[in-house]
Amino acid sequence: MGKKIAILTAGGDCPGLNAAIRGVGKTAIINHGMEVIGFTAGFGGLIRKEYVVLEANKLSGILTLGGTILGTSRDKPFKMEKGEVFNYKPGLIKKNYEELGLDCVVCIGGNGTMKTAHLLSLEGLNVIGIPKTIDNDVFGTDLTFGFDSAVSIATDAIDRLHSTANSHQRAMVIELMGHNAGWIALYAGIAGGGDVILIPEIAYDINKVCREIEDRFSKGKTSAIVVVAEGIQKPINISAASYIAERIQQTTNIEARETRLGYVQRGGSPSAMDRILATRYGAYAAELIAAGDFGNMVCIHGDVLGKIALEEVGGKLSLVDPNHPLIKKARNMGVLFGDE
Ligand code: F6P
Repeated sequence: MGKKIAILTAGGDCPGLNAAIRGVGKTAIINHGMEVIGFTAGFGGLIRKEYVVLEANKLSGILTLGGTILGTSRDKPFKMEKGEVFNYKPGLIKKNYEELGLDCVVCIGGNGTMKTAHLLSLEGLNVIGIPKTIDNDVFGTDLTFGFDSAVSIATDAIDRLHSTANSHQRAMVIELMGHNAGWIALYAGIAGGGDVILIPEIAYDINKVCREIEDRFSKGKTSAIVVVAEGIQKPINISAASYIAERIQQTTNIEARETRLGYVQRGGSPSAMDRILATRYGAYAAELIAAGDFGNMVCIHGDVLGKIALEEVGGKLSLVDPNHPLIKKARNMGVLFGDE
């Protein structure tokens, strides 16, 4: 008898989720004769025993699709809602896992998902994690799928801001996602030729940012592109882009405009690199299941796939090192990070 496994996608969606589902599912079915089901709406489906059977034909034609065919949610089974006493969710999950005769649950998600996956493995479930997120902030791996697509979308947006900024002689401030990490802003900022890049990992001085923009215009430049990560320090109740644009305009008298790119960074078809990474992660996860090797998250370092124990991943973040080689190179080319 082949193994029976389940897949779920949890947390914010990102391009490449379907490629990962397909990678796990097809390898499990074709290479190992396993039976595969998919829980719907993240951990919610596991709690409520809501699932679809993923036969090989259901896994065809999904490689290029954005979002997740299984749906997702931010349900946290180990967090009791206010007033909840009964319905101990990890207990329900264990019951469902046993009743369905599962040999493993593959949890595709970000940091929160890996934490939950680890807690489920402590409850005795066989679990494998696959890291995804546009933010690229999952600890224990160099890269998450979704990131490359988000960087491409953000870069395209920055490219488009250059021409309108020049036409109007404006400073353009673009805010990018990333939660508390600056990976998207750093990569898209460099790929899009940003003049100033502000990320949460480097404390900035707004006066230095304003001076830089004044300097550029006084030297005859007709625009300035300021790329800001959503997680930078700023007063509460105002977006990062609004804050920076307002301060630039007030201080320098140069017209400043803001763009918040928002959820388009997470939508649509995955880039070729994300399809490949998600497929590799998914196929590798299926091989680990076949080998009976559980309790790990798949990861990549350089170009080499590997695994890391889930207990080492949970509750940690992968942030940009302020001495990252890319930052050093950008500084040497005159890009301002607001700190010097
Ligand atoms: O983790 C992905 C992400 O898009 C972050 O960049 C952003 O801060 C957050 O999710 C938005 O969360 P939600 O989907 O709950 O609005």
